[in-house]
Amino acid sequence: MRKLLLILDFLLCLSLSTSHTSFLPGDSKNARQHRKELNLKRPSEDSTAFESDIILASEKANKLAKEILSGNRKRRQTVQATKIWPNGIIVYKYDDNWPNSKLGNLSKRSMEKAMKMWQDKTCVIFIRQTPTTPRIGSYGSGVNIVFGHMCQTIAGRLEYGFGDLEVAGNCADNPGKLAHLLGHVLGIFHQHNRPDRDKYITVMFEALKQDAWKFFIKANENHTEQLNKPYDIGSIMHLGGHVMFNKYNITIQPKDKRLMAVMGQRTHLSFLDIKKVNDLYTCNRNCPRGPKCKNEGYIGPNCSCTCPLDLTGRKCQKVVQSFSECGGVLKRSSGTFSSPGYSQKYQNSTRCTWLIQGTAGSSISLNFTSFEIGDDANCYNDFLEVKTYGLTLEGPRC
Ligand SMILES: *[C@@H]1O[C@H](CO)[C@@H](O)[C@H](O)[C@H]1NC(C)=O
Ligand SMILES: *[C@@H]1O[C@H](CO)[C@@H](O)[C@H](O)[C@H]1NC(C)=O
Ligand SMILES: *[C@@H]1O[C@H](CO)[C@@H](O)[C@H](O)[C@H]1NC(C)=O
Ligand SMILES: *[C@@H]1O[C@H](CO)[C@@H](O)[C@H](O)[C@H]1NC(C)=O
Ligand SMILES: *[C@@H]1O[C@H](CO)[C@@H](O)[C@H](O)[C@H]1NC(C)=O
Ligand SMILES: *[C@@H]1O[C@H](CO)[C@@H](O)[C@H](O)[C@H]1NC(C)=O
Ligand SMILES: [Zn+2]
Repeated sequence: MRKLLLILDFLLCLSLSTSHTSFLPGDSKNARQHRKELNLKRPSEDSTAFESDIILASEKANKLAKEILSGNRKRRQTVQATKIWPNGIIVYKYDDNWPNSKLGNLSKRSMEKAMKMWQDKTCVIFIRQTPTTPRIGSYGSGVNIVFGHMCQTIAGRLEYGFGDLEVAGNCADNPGKLAHLLGHVLGIFHQHNRPDRDKYITVMFEALKQDAWKFFIKANENHTEQLNKPYDIGSIMHLGGHVMFNKYNITIQPKDKRLMAVMGQRTHLSFLDIKKVNDLYTCNRNCPRGPKCKNEGYIGPNCSCTCPLDLTGRKCQKVVQSFSECGGVLKRSSGTFSSPGYSQKYQNSTRCTWLIQGTAGSSISLNFTSFEIGDDANCYNDFLEVKTYGLTLEGPRC
């Protein structure tokens, strides 16, 4: 039998909208104040943005839309075949009409951050083409980054020529949202288009505008990047619960409602986002033999273990510890742990992870003897997460 493993995340991200980001456990007055000042909206969610962000070949898109509106929707529809980039090299350029403005410059910096997010964890490389750069690989295809009115992009590589990735005000200077668009460029589709999505989320069609329905078509199972990967609600490629027009309506709801807080995040690449790209581009093809990774780690681009978030070490056997007493591996049959310096306030932007390791076949239970956390109704900023779905997926929060 497999070992039962559990991660406990105790995270306090800096909340920009509050002056009380730390509090004394038990001090509920402070916690209430906390709530009043908190912006309950997900920090980077833009609920008005209509995430029709994949540019389909237009005749295909029209055909799909027609079929949906006429009720002739087939059960399985091809969205678009993934075309990956040879050798993982993506050539890009900024459009000739790129604005020479403060936002234009800021957006370039954010775009480079977003590229780095993918580049640091996979083997893909973004290479900027300038008038003096010689033409590099990729059969002359590339990405033309345009400043426009929508945040949308081609998905995968075009056979020939440069396809557009368009940025606009609501994503231009947000590295997380840009990393999402780049995910499409690399060949990754939205999670909610997976054929098995109805097991994990409920799409509230009645809350969606009709012309948004076409974005909820199930893609066929030939989306190789998703093959043999669990449904990932915490993916940067998952939409949030309030996408499409009516910001107070829930349009996508996780079957496990406690996962609402992790759905639609645009802050980091999930473990599986990274794995999809590493698999799609066979990033470890030059690794004859690496260490035997533990805890669901795998051999990544540098022939070393790529570990689930918060795990580290040569074989992913350790926990990321930002300072002592903040997280660790617990192996004893029972014990206690707490936030660092417990009974004192916990610090701003603290993230502590504990990995509780049982013997094969054992079960693990947690007994909270004292629990208080910043009063954040949606558990976006202050939360405790128990990874009940395993080490590679997000778990329920708060
Ligand atoms: C925590 O964050 C608040 C608000 O940003 C700030 O006023 C406070 O000084 C920070 N505390 C520490 C210990 O950094
Ligand atoms: C944008 O960056 C360019 C090149 O670094 C610089 O020449 C230009 O002045 C900047 N524009 C603004 C509005 O900051
Ligand atoms: C591989 O190693 C290089 C050089 O040390 C580093 O810059 C890169 O981020 C590493 N990539 C991964 C995925 O660890
Ligand atoms: C969506 O929200 C609006 C305004 O809050 C409400 O009037 C409407 O009934 C909601 N629609 C659905 C389908 O829930
Ligand atoms: C998936 O790909 C296989 C092989 O290319 C093909 O036979 C099959 O029809 C495809 N499935 C769908 C649903 O398109
Ligand atoms: C939880 O801990 C408390 C205090 O140590 C103890 O009284 C209680 O029996 C424990 N509950 C379980 C289910 O272990
Ligand atoms: Zn998207």
